Amino acid sequence: MFDLIIRNANLPDGRQGFDIGISGCKITAIEKTLPAASGEELDATGRLVSPPFCDPHFHMDATLSLGMPRMNVSGTLLEGIALWGELRPLLTKEALVDRALRYCDMAVSQGLLYIRSHVDTSDPRLVTAEALIEVRERVAPYITLQLVAFPQDGYYRAPEGVASLERALDMGIDIVGGIPHFERTMEDGARSMEALCRIAAERGLPVDIHCDETDDPMSRHIESLAAQTIRFGLQGRVAGSHLTSMHSMDNYYVSKLIPLMAEAEINVIPNPLINIMLQGRHDTYPKRRGMTRVRELMAAGLNVSFGQDCTMDPWYSMGSADMLEVGHMAIHVAQMGGIEDKKKIFDALTINSAKTMGLEGYGLDIGCNADLVVLQAADVIEALRLKPTRLAVLKAGKVISRTAPRISQLFLDERPQQIDIGADYVPRV
Ligand code: FE2
Repeated sequence: MFDLIIRNANLPDGRQGFDIGISGCKITAIEKTLPAASGEELDATGRLVSPPFCDPHFHMDATLSLGMPRMNVSGTLLEGIALWGELRPLLTKEALVDRALRYCDMAVSQGLLYIRSHVDTSDPRLVTAEALIEVRERVAPYITLQLVAFPQDGYYRAPEGVASLERALDMGIDIVGGIPHFERTMEDGARSMEALCRIAAERGLPVDIHCDETDDPMSRHIESLAAQTIRFGLQGRVAGSHLTSMHSMDNYYVSKLIPLMAEAEINVIPNPLINIMLQGRHDTYPKRRGMTRVRELMAAGLNVSFGQDCTMDPWYSMGSADMLEVGHMAIHVAQMGGIEDKKKIFDALTINSAKTMGLEGYGLDIGCNADLVVLQAADVIEALRLKPTRLAVLKAGKVISRTAPRISQLFLDERPQQIDIGADYVPRV
């Protein structure tokens, strides 16, 4: 009856010890005890089984380019952009494809099967778009890759920014991007929001804007983005990435802004690793954290999902395609350490991101796609604490990655001892 059964699984919603029946590429049963499968069985041994992680904000054209052609000495966003500008003319399609595929392999092993990547369209050669469109096709059997046309040097500010973005969309890039805080003036930034939302409305595409990635409290392009979203009827299809200026904004202004964002149904994408690394760089002490107001945005009903943004590139020398690392940082920076807070953070890495990305058939319910991850942890809270091994990753009902559990052998006395960090579980009251 079932092609595969995952036995004794703990589910993200807290249900423990359930069997998940899979027929073909769909989840067809979730019950305490299912009859034997005609095919394979996989024992989750009381571990968490989750839908795969989704990364709604990444830069796959820059990933794994760390040190090319040199390191970022100041560690700032602006030196990162300048450094990327040095590397860009040297990029080849072959090298871009090679790095992106290596990253996708890493992502699969971490249970990350849905990625939205920005693609820099500033270089009119558009070799980045060409390469990542090829990668999108090559990884399609196991990773859903969405691509955003991203005018890194400014839609108006770059010499051929307007035309390049249009050409990238003509080539088949999926989403309209922008960077209003990097335009020459506030006015240009606001104009770009109008122009980019108009393009999205005309072409029937979603929008994802690098918006207000600055500590300047007067950087208020999110207001223009929300207003243009409503004007063009794009509610629910627009994402505001970063929004770090909201950290520093006047509280009274924010009390008007958040309801406007909610009216526009803006999907909010903070990038905790990058925000805590790059923001506050002009401060002495105290230094601002620079991440947007996650708790308040969630409380207002906005869909908040977290992105990784960078892994080993001109902006960030760390990262490992691990969305739990992103969630772990989010808990700290947003100071969301309570049990209910952590559940919300896990949702932000999975179901909220799936909503941002408009994924169909995503989830752990009957009828959903049999795309699943078995983790070496008992539940979502332990997963966020431990960032554990992804024991198995399934796509369309087939195991596509297996990793041995992390078990340490201790030799402290005559009696050898084993420690399974994923089962070293402290019950909560
Ligand atoms: Fe980004």
